[in-house]
Amino acid sequence: MIRAARADELERLRGIETAAGEIFRSCGMDAIADDEPLTVTELAIFQARGGALVYVDAADVPVAYLLLGDLDGNAHVEQLSVHPSHARQGLGGGLLEAAGMWAYAKGLEWLTLTTFRDVPWNAPYYRRLGFEELDPEKLDDGLRRILECEALVGLHRWPRIAMRRRVRSVTA
Ligand SMILES: CC(C)(COP(=O)(O)OP(=O)(O)OC[C@H]1O[C@@H](n2cnc3c(N)ncnc32)[C@H](O)[C@@H]1OP(=O)(O)O)[C@@H](O)C(=O)NCCC(=O)NCCS
Repeated sequence: MIRAARADELERLRGIETAAGEIFRSCGMDAIADDEPLTVTELAIFQARGGALVYVDAADVPVAYLLLGDLDGNAHVEQLSVHPSHARQGLGGGLLEAAGMWAYAKGLEWLTLTTFRDVPWNAPYYRRLGFEELDPEKLDDGLRRILECEALVGLHRWPRIAMRRRVRSVTA
């Protein structure tokens, strides 16, 4: 089941991000795996605005999460992490569907995100789920700044791109 995260679950979300990040070692991106997860304070900002969605197991414990916020008049996916113990069971795709519903309820037209272009479970994954790559020369200010900030912290060692998927109603 997918629901909004509670404030007392944020430390657990950090653990999910750390565990999910381990997969980056398999393609030599140890720096990404070693990256500190978002702090509880950073997570709390999303949670307080209703932009932290969790996928919970049968015991109501989060095993995956997605962070969302408004950016450039669209819904921006800031983070998506699935604990490896629950990988490849559709949880990521389900959270992205829920993000689309969140955006639809707010009248926002696009889901956007930034991701690694060449990592199999990043851009190729999102492409399979209907996301399209955005022209880097035509990005709105918010997305452009996010890519600039990511470059400043060294993420541009591996090509990063911005992508979007049109928000649709559940019945569409
Ligand atoms: C990317 C991620 C969220 C996908 O979550 P998920 O719940 O496993 O994904 P879904 O079950 O919805 O979709 C599975 C598909 O994802 C892709 N995928 C997932 N893990 C993969 C891997 N290790 N290698 C290649 N493709 C992978 C495949 O397309 C897979 O389909 P398949 O199982 O039929 O081959 C998860 O792997 C994760 O948390 N990764 C680490 C953090 C990350 O990269 N987040 C995204 C940052 S932009």
